[in-house]
Amino acid sequence: MSNPFDLAGKTALVTGGAQGLGRMIAEGLMGAGARVVITSRSAEKAAEAAKEISTTGMCIGLGADLSTPQAAVDLAKEFRKIVGDELHVLVNNAGQSWGANIDDFPDEAWGNVLAVNLQMPFTLVREFLPELEKAGHAEDPARILNIGSIAGATALRLRAYSYSSSKAAIHQLTRDLAGDLVKRNITANAILPGYFPTGMTAHLRDAEEEVNPKLLKTIPMKRMGKPDEIAALAVFLSCKSSAYITGAAIPMDGGIVGCG
Ligand SMILES: NC(=O)c1ccc[n+]([C@@H]2O[C@H](COP(=O)([O-])OP(=O)(O)OC[C@H]3O[C@@H](n4cnc5c(N)ncnc54)[C@H](OP(=O)(O)O)[C@@H]3O)[C@@H](O)[C@H]2O)c1
Repeated sequence: MSNPFDLAGKTALVTGGAQGLGRMIAEGLMGAGARVVITSRSAEKAAEAAKEISTTGMCIGLGADLSTPQAAVDLAKEFRKIVGDELHVLVNNAGQSWGANIDDFPDEAWGNVLAVNLQMPFTLVREFLPELEKAGHAEDPARILNIGSIAGATALRLRAYSYSSSKAAIHQLTRDLAGDLVKRNITANAILPGYFPTGMTAHLRDAEEEVNPKLLKTIPMKRMGKPDEIAALAVFLSCKSSAYITGAAIPMDGGIVGCG
């Protein structure tokens, strides 16, 4: 039997793939045989990370500050020029957060967070529709993977009001996209990570990478998620074996949502 998780011959784009969760996902997709394009706000950082990741396959790094629609349009143009006219997997991973007490939560904490976490994923989908449509087939559709969060599925009370709202919204956007694009052989699913060790959760770990005991109490499995685990879910949702899944929002969180 051939490998059911094989991504050979597929091209994936992971926004924010030079670090953190995006990099874990990019390395996983590459390990499964995909050609992977990663982005960072810094073209140098993207190129450097692509070089490091390329030891297991082909990775291309592109610079894109995805806080404006024009940047998403430009990224699609650059992809066409450098990579080609087929995109099998679009991973909308780039994201920002802002935490503050409700009394002091500033207006400026909304615009950029909503733009990066919600609007640009939509704009990228719109701009990449021709490439996704070309890559997708009824038996093996093209994939949109939106990185949501359990913060958008349950009230974690993180004081990250714009962040959790943006994540709840991208879960809904995922369902809307799934319904509208199913006829065009494109699926859309959301991954809802719990706590993973990245820059976004650095404040929850000490210098020795020990996780804050108060946080651990809230996680039924009493640990953060591991890079291989999030990578494996992204590989599964990108491969032929998951062709029949669309419109799903899948938590990977050690049981926070499911056991709540
Ligand atoms: N870590 C967790 O436990 C966790 C839990 C739930 C959801 N998530 C989600 O996972 C995704 C990745 O976050 P992370 O945990 O890996 O945190 P991170 O290390 O802070 O990474 C954030 C990523 O977003 C990119 N980014 C931020 N602003 C951007 C902009 N204006 N334009 C383009 N890219 C931008 C960054 O790219 P550059 O800095 O290279 O430009 C970076 O790759 C986010 O959507 C986050 O909400 C994470």
